[in-house]
Amino acid sequence: MSKLDINDLVDNKTGRQSRLIFHEQQVYEQEQEQIFGRCWLFLAHESQITKPGDYFRTFMGEDEVLVVRQKDQSIKAFLNTCTHRGNRICKADNGNARRFVCNYHGWSFGPDGSLTGVPLEEDAYHNQLDKSKFGLKQVAQVSSYKGMVFGTFDPEAPSLEDYLGEMKWYLDVWLDAMPEGTELIGSAQKVEYPVNWKLPVENVCGDGYHLGWAHAGVMTVASSMNIDSLSVGNTDIDSSTAMSVTGMNGHSVLSTLDGYAGYAFYPEPQLAVDYLDANRDTVSSRLGELRGNKFWGSQINLTVFPNVQMLPGLNWFRVYHPKGPGKMEMWTWAMVDKEMSDELKQMILDNVCRTFGAAGMFDNDDGDNLIACTTQNRGWQTRHQDIYTNMAMGKERSDPDMPGIISDGLIGEQNQRFFYRRWQEMMTAESWDQVPDYNSLEEARATEKD
Ligand code: FES
Ligand SMILES: [Fe+2]
Repeated sequence: MSKLDINDLVDNKTGRQSRLIFHEQQVYEQEQEQIFGRCWLFLAHESQITKPGDYFRTFMGEDEVLVVRQKDQSIKAFLNTCTHRGNRICKADNGNARRFVCNYHGWSFGPDGSLTGVPLEEDAYHNQLDKSKFGLKQVAQVSSYKGMVFGTFDPEAPSLEDYLGEMKWYLDVWLDAMPEGTELIGSAQKVEYPVNWKLPVENVCGDGYHLGWAHAGVMTVASSMNIDSLSVGNTDIDSSTAMSVTGMNGHSVLSTLDGYAGYAFYPEPQLAVDYLDANRDTVSSRLGELRGNKFWGSQINLTVFPNVQMLPGLNWFRVYHPKGPGKMEMWTWAMVDKEMSDELKQMILDNVCRTFGAAGMFDNDDGDNLIACTTQNRGWQTRHQDIYTNMAMGKERSDPDMPGIISDGLIGEQNQRFFYRRWQEMMTAESWDQVPDYNSLEEARATEKD
């Protein structure tokens, strides 16, 4: 087929997306290069690799990487592929290693990625192999933000701090609320879904619309608190109950504003409520009254573009790894404040399994819908249709006390529109200079494509 023009596939002024963006292999390949090849991507939590030699195996797009703690406590990441004939260097998910030895012919690499050993180097290579040229391919930049380690393949990418931009104000509601920060607990729950990777991102980043319908059953049985904004059938578009925020380099927030609803879907939330009550003053003194009282403890969906999501309260942390246009792997952990008691941490871990784990009640509702949203596009006629995220366009506002572009209430499609806007900007920009920066409504309008 002829080359697709990405500018034709998304229209931010009408909220339109062509279904081709969920199906076409050439769009997917361009995503690997333009988005996963350039954006800062989540690699690991610092708590997973604390000692020199600790490593964690993960993906950046479809590229498998090893994230390794160095002797000087810095972190490096490498493609997990041997520079001899391309075999995978490390098969384990995580561990500690003094060196990584390839199974095929025995080349060995140090934790810093350098090639340190070659069997028969003298007899077979006649000492002519320049080992300094055959180290593991290093990820260009690795950096941490409050415990979260990210990497980018692009040496020209802006710093991680700049990439996260104004979103840091909201991320800190979880990552910096308590003095000791956060940690991931339990193993990653890994599920492969026949779903395009963008669909779960849009679902969680802004789609409060589906809660009262797709999740009506689980919302009814799992809810243990009477929270107005999370009630089935809620249509409150009200600045006092909930809001969505976006326009921060494609990152976004969907949040209730009650300070407790994050724990609304726990069978016995009292332990968590006591924790919130005992620590709210601490959080307010660290983050200010607005974040301490209204955000901390609320049901908050935080999305870091392109593929990371975390929900404080429900306390899960998730990364989507693309595996082709019609497939992705979803990795979910429980993430907790280090200060929490063991009892509360265990309760949270159990609840992540119950709600959003591999067999989680919410995920089963979502999975079924998102699978069909992907597979319907196999039909040639179907995939040449458009779909829309045009709910409440023009109702966005700015707020003097909070960064980003805001829509009131939990139900809306603002965040999804801006997710696809950022997707299009990254897909078409030839350099970072061409990627617009917009944090307010005025800046977003001024930089919108015609
Ligand atoms: S492929 Fe790794 S040593 Fe040959
Ligand atoms: Fe959902």
